[in-house]
Amino acid sequence: MSRAQERSYEEGTRFRIPYTGVPADFASLFGNPRPLTVEIGFGMGTATAEIAAANPEKNYLGIEVFKAGIGKLIWELERRSLSNVRIIERDAAEVLETMTAPGTIAAFHLFFPDPWPKKRHHKRRLVQRPFAETLASRLTAGGYIYMVTDWEPYAAEALEALSGAPGLFNPYGGFAPGFSWRPQTKFERKGLDKDHRVREIYVVKGAP
Ligand SMILES: C[S@@+](CC[C@H](N)C(=O)[O-])C[C@H]1O[C@@H](n2cnc3c(N)ncnc32)[C@H](O)[C@@H]1O
Repeated sequence: MSRAQERSYEEGTRFRIPYTGVPADFASLFGNPRPLTVEIGFGMGTATAEIAAANPEKNYLGIEVFKAGIGKLIWELERRSLSNVRIIERDAAEVLETMTAPGTIAAFHLFFPDPWPKKRHHKRRLVQRPFAETLASRLTAGGYIYMVTDWEPYAAEALEALSGAPGLFNPYGGFAPGFSWRPQTKFERKGLDKDHRVREIYVVKGAP
């Protein structure tokens, strides 16, 4: 961690929500009942801050376990004077399972989740059943899950898991087109440098 990230990590308590293991009242934690988007594994948080800055009428919760990234995002939130982002430092599966109620999350963003390319590590991939079902259960009607990856086998597996989860439908039938509002991330650049193809998955809660 750089000095600035360390200071932001230590002092940015107003941006952090402690892990409690019980359902949180996000409207009171944000001070308003605006729709809540959850970003899982935000890394250095560049996309988080940019999307939050472009959408002040929405709230954003970033879940991450990487301390330097948390410090960097808090530093960025301070720099931009953003008040619509909060962070929980914890495993996302635990947070969603225990701190979020069914039917309350407007959207999930997962940008370049760890691909775990080795076969013996595939079970560590986040986006597979039953996690896809947990995501689906937490969405509001009309809410969406947006995942992007540069790892083709993971893209195929996640497309199937998300398109097939109960209550979700895929308006694109297969992979989605890119959305111009999504900022490029560090891991996207790394993938593109290796000539990886970037795959976008976008599914919606509700009937087609
Ligand atoms: C490959 S990086 C992508 C970071 C960023 N989204 C990007 O596109 O540059 C994956 C991130 O997910 C985080 N992560 C992995 N598993 C997680 C989990 N179970 N809960 C929360 N964060 C997780 C890692 O710490 C890492 O920062």
